[in-house]
Amino acid sequence: MCGIVAYTGSADAVPILLKGLKILEYRGYDSAGVAIQTSTGATEVLKTPGRVEELDAVVAEADLSGHTGIGHTRWATHGVVNHQNAHPHVSCDGEVALVHNGIVENYLELRAELAANGHTLTSDTDSEAVVHLIETHLKAGESLEDALLHATSRLKGAGTFVASARSQPGKIVGMRMGNAGGIVVGHSEDGNMLASDLLAVLPYTNRVVYLDSGEQSIITDTSVIYRDGNGDVIDKEVIISERTAEAAERGAFPHFMLKEIHEQSERVASAMRGRVDFENGSINLPEIPFSDEQIRNFDQVVLVGMGTSLHSAMMGATLIESFARIPAKAENASEFRYKNPVIDENTLVIAVTQSGETADTLAAMEGAGEQNAKQLAIVELDGSQATRMAHGTLLVRAGLEVAVASTKTMTNTVVCLYMLAIHMATIRGTMAPEVRKAAVGELASLPSGISSLISQEKAFKAIAESLVDCHHLLYLGRGFMFPAAMEGALKMKEIAYIHAEGYAAGEMKHGVNALISDEMPTIALAPAGHLHEKMVSNVNEVKARGGQVIAIVTEGDEIVPEIVDKVIELPAASEALSAILSLVPMQLLAYYTAVALDQDPDKPRNLAKTVTVE
Ligand code: AGP
Repeated sequence: MCGIVAYTGSADAVPILLKGLKILEYRGYDSAGVAIQTSTGATEVLKTPGRVEELDAVVAEADLSGHTGIGHTRWATHGVVNHQNAHPHVSCDGEVALVHNGIVENYLELRAELAANGHTLTSDTDSEAVVHLIETHLKAGESLEDALLHATSRLKGAGTFVASARSQPGKIVGMRMGNAGGIVVGHSEDGNMLASDLLAVLPYTNRVVYLDSGEQSIITDTSVIYRDGNGDVIDKEVIISERTAEAAERGAFPHFMLKEIHEQSERVASAMRGRVDFENGSINLPEIPFSDEQIRNFDQVVLVGMGTSLHSAMMGATLIESFARIPAKAENASEFRYKNPVIDENTLVIAVTQSGETADTLAAMEGAGEQNAKQLAIVELDGSQATRMAHGTLLVRAGLEVAVASTKTMTNTVVCLYMLAIHMATIRGTMAPEVRKAAVGELASLPSGISSLISQEKAFKAIAESLVDCHHLLYLGRGFMFPAAMEGALKMKEIAYIHAEGYAAGEMKHGVNALISDEMPTIALAPAGHLHEKMVSNVNEVKARGGQVIAIVTEGDEIVPEIVDKVIELPAASEALSAILSLVPMQLLAYYTAVALDQDPDKPRNLAKTVTVE
């Protein structure tokens, strides 16, 4: 979704903003722009549909420089992708420049009111209404920070806003309203920054503050002031981030996605470090904030998430229910938020979200909080909003994920859910010690299992290249393999643009069999386990109807390879860990199919890394 970066200080703002916008590209965008306060006292706005490189060229041509500026990458929600709709937006008198991430729900009403009051609106966006509202307040003699506060009090929706005013040079104001995208404030000796993402400030400083809903940050070259929703000055603690700017480099890999797939073995090991005691066969998760008594008293667990995180949540629900014997279910956060769910203080709600900023997941958490549910966030990005809303956080430790398509964060998330399920089972006494030790011990072979799959990359590439002419693919699985099938299909859809569906194999006879033909290959997830025979039947049914089958099996399987067209072998593992392992070849299949189709797997069309609007 939209990216924001702003700087005011002693350095030239232009290269800082352009570098920040380049870093924010991974969030997904369609236009980019900057507004710079120049030495003549003017505010120059340059913007363009397309890539940041195109903006770069426009800026170079204009020979723009100045010490204060705001920048934006737009991900269109209201209004087509064109020059007028790109940000920054400016007020009629050119006084105010504004960038926005989020949605103003009552924008039609506001635009009509502003037009009736004599404002000329030049774009079709919801955001532009806000800049004219600020203009009105500035004309009444308010400071920029008060004008932004009062303007946003008229809005319905959620978002983040960053504005500058020509008559108040050197000052930038940022504000967070609700849970649609965050603002991180970067403190440094050479100036101060605001950004929608930590990564954009890390090249300059690791001293940061995250704004909470309703809060403002007013930055100048030498000062940073924080205010609450009443306009009162507040103290915020400056955090030292442990992340480094280098995390956003892709090294020798052609794409971030491939780099991130390759990192999984090492990242899985870091998810386990200090948390798994292989000697005693136990799990140690001191970050879980609930007492043993609370864990024993939970009468249900609800995991909420979206997209890949929903698939991780589905695996987590099965793990928690089967290990800790608590009714557990995964819910799509965008559905959950509008339900009237039966939850209370004995419900554990687990928010699964790598970014910790997905609007629907945060809204689901807000609703759960109102019902007094206990909340745990399973998150990659520390300091994100989900971590601040939950009672506790289990960080997945996958490291920064830049590619839009999630890979290593899912693998690590499921590993964390696996450890959590064992932890809860231990406290609740629902896992016999030998069973627990075996489940813990098995984790030791996960990093090498992932490495051995990655070493077969060439074979997966060849299979991927055989899929490029397909228009439809079916992914089938049962048990833990059902969410894995859904995830395999999602990866293929989002980066190769091939229609793919993940199905519970038992559903086939209830409709999907009608689609089977030699034009729709099936990826059948059929590793060893108590559902293997059932999958063999499903595979036979597809074959009997002329379908091609690529099967993912456990090495040594003597049945499935005999009846299918192509085989991918997983190292021997339990059903739960086989599901984690199966993600790796499916990620590589999607990656190499996208590459063979000449698509950029890192920046799929119409998608954003962090979905901060609903
Ligand atoms: C998957 O590849 C996507 N990146 C997407 O489905 C993602 O998982 C979803 O938007 C949820 O994001 P989150 O984990 O940051 O909440």
